[in-house]
Amino acid sequence: MEIDRRTLLGAAALPLAAALPARAAEDEAHWAGVAANYDVTRDVIQLEHGNWGMMARPVLAAYRAAVERVNRETSFYARRTMIGDLEAVRAAAAAALGADVEEIAFTRNATEALKALILGYNRLRPGDAVLYADLDYDAMQGCMAALEKRRGVRVVKIALPEPASHQGLIQAYAAAFDAEPRIRMALLTHVSHRTGLILPVAEIARMARARGIDTIVDAAHSVGQLDFALPALEADFVGLNLHKWIGAPLGVGALYIRKGRVADVDADPAEGASPTEDVRTRAHTGTVDYAAQLTLPAALAFQQSIGAGPRARRLRALRDRWVHAVRDLPNVQVLTPEDPRLYGAITAFRIAGRTSHDDNVALARTMLDRHGIFTVHRDGLASGSCVRVTPALATRMADVDALAAALRTIVRG
Ligand SMILES: Cc1ncc(COP(=O)(O)O)c(C=O)c1O
Repeated sequence: MEIDRRTLLGAAALPLAAALPARAAEDEAHWAGVAANYDVTRDVIQLEHGNWGMMARPVLAAYRAAVERVNRETSFYARRTMIGDLEAVRAAAAAALGADVEEIAFTRNATEALKALILGYNRLRPGDAVLYADLDYDAMQGCMAALEKRRGVRVVKIALPEPASHQGLIQAYAAAFDAEPRIRMALLTHVSHRTGLILPVAEIARMARARGIDTIVDAAHSVGQLDFALPALEADFVGLNLHKWIGAPLGVGALYIRKGRVADVDADPAEGASPTEDVRTRAHTGTVDYAAQLTLPAALAFQQSIGAGPRARRLRALRDRWVHAVRDLPNVQVLTPEDPRLYGAITAFRIAGRTSHDDNVALARTMLDRHGIFTVHRDGLASGSCVRVTPALATRMADVDALAAALRTIVRG
């Protein structure tokens, strides 16, 4: 069976696009229709969609078709037309991200992209300093810390204020920049994987640039969860994946380097002694899951059929529903503030005074064993551990209502 190139490039999802008008976040009938595209397990109430995103059914169908084609034709496809197809995929990714195609290179995940950016950023001199925060992802913290030995810089780590506020977060970075005038580069995590807190990245990046500080943004959790274009972040370097909130197959990520800044990141040594200024030389991945990359347009088409604005509002509404239902419980500490600029779908909580790793492992276990709700504990906050709740488009309001009811039962003991 010959697979139509349009199927690989996402046309399979287009009839659905026409069928889904933009709707209010609370229109349950509409969102039930969206959720019906996801074959999510009903063995548990799955509220841990932060690890990676499910493929919607049309995306999975496109992926299967792509796997079959790549497997059947192997290099007969790869050495003739696949490169052109992948170029079209890259163009589709760039358009969806609001970037120029020359600013985007594929990686296998956000980790690979951010490692290339952090470790490759070559404007640091011995005696300079770099900055990161407690909410940043552990692997990126490791890369930032490694710069001390690799580049001879001082590594500054700050704890973000809790409770956070829009202005308080900006001030925390301003104070850190003031305290160490030799900071030349800062890592900013757009959406925290620990608490769900959204950093006012554009404001901080602008303030940083005015002081001669470059920012590298970790957008692993924001692309597809929030409604924004990459240039709006005002950062010249961004690492992201498309297998979380865009719902592409696992193994699709990207790095973004703003035009004119490629030389400030070292080429991957695998590119040899005379690399070009093509952004793709900054991450050399070798052979990858081509079928996964070829499926990206189907995932983007599915997301576009929902709309980035309605999607972001729906995800926030799912979070609001359970958070507002438990706010009369004095023992429940919700770790994102009630400022819609500062949260999306993800929000973590803890029970007052129970801040240890073990406390929060036990809480997530109780949630699962007694209430059939799957969440995950998170560590690494200066204020202690917590439990993270991540609904997604497959989530029904009834699912987050069940979480609120379970929490009420647990704290009332
Ligand atoms: C904030 C953040 N950064 C980076 C990553 C790494 O993403 P990936 O798994 O695509 O490498 C994650 C993954 O959960 C994350 O939450």
